[in-house]
Amino acid sequence: MNTVTVKAPATIANLVCGFDIMGLCLNEPFDEFTVSISKTVGVSITNLDNFNLPTIANQNVCGVALLSVLKNTTLVKGFDIISNKKIMPGSGIGSSAASAAGVVVAANYLLGNIFDQDKLIEFALEGEFLASGGKHADNIAPAILGGITLIRSHSPIDIIKIASPELYFVILHPQIEIKTSDARKILPQKIELSQAIQQWANTSALVAGFLQNDYELIGRSLQDIVVEPIRSRLIPYYLQLKNAALQSGALGGGISGSGPSVFMVCKDKNIASNVEQAMKNIYATTNIKFKTYISTINPNGVILM
Ligand code: HSE
Repeated sequence: MNTVTVKAPATIANLVCGFDIMGLCLNEPFDEFTVSISKTVGVSITNLDNFNLPTIANQNVCGVALLSVLKNTTLVKGFDIISNKKIMPGSGIGSSAASAAGVVVAANYLLGNIFDQDKLIEFALEGEFLASGGKHADNIAPAILGGITLIRSHSPIDIIKIASPELYFVILHPQIEIKTSDARKILPQKIELSQAIQQWANTSALVAGFLQNDYELIGRSLQDIVVEPIRSRLIPYYLQLKNAALQSGALGGGISGSGPSVFMVCKDKNIASNVEQAMKNIYATTNIKFKTYISTINPNGVILM
């Protein structure tokens, strides 16, 4: 086979308290990438979407990820990518991770699955680095593995996929762009021990909540005292959105990745649609364009179409 098309899903990184170490995979929205083996050296990129992403390989997340694959094999000289992205860059729902993860899984398939998942994560991380200026695998890992993933270390790769409860995620994506690299620069390099203790407590309790299907524990563990107070200032009407969602029955939620998307976790579909409506109502009174999604957890990650 010389060509393959993959569906590369959005992801939610951090899951509020787990900055850089936790993420989960969504069913909606997703990108599509068609990758072909090329006889020409290097990576060519054709964009079918309107995001005006660079087409020069070493300036494009997909390009960098596949250049990294090419450095590790002599089986092929190059790849052609046709990119049809639907996840807006700078959305906070893992647009760059979907790009990097999607093309490396596709390329690996064309190569006869010679690389294991850790290696694919390593290649995709090279692409993610271009977009965010930092190495964090909390979008890449769930995009490749599916489900909920914990990043114990990204160098060397040590990733744990945990069991996922049935939950509904409501995402409101204000159509403004926040670059992950900018949203990382405003964070403190040091925090107080007392803050770290509270953050560790919430993170570990959230993992226990997921493993035990304990919805109330999940809800009360979704607290972030380190990053949210700083980044939420970049998201218009953040507190109003969150309060409206909580009053409509959401268990909890917060900033998706580095924002501007905001996600809320719900225990059933009806609550999720009430929460979606409440969040829409807040933004309907503003002049900011937005999109909403409701998704369950995607257990598979990138798949062939
Ligand atoms: N953990 C990263 C951050 C995720 O919050 O900067 C970016 O999507």
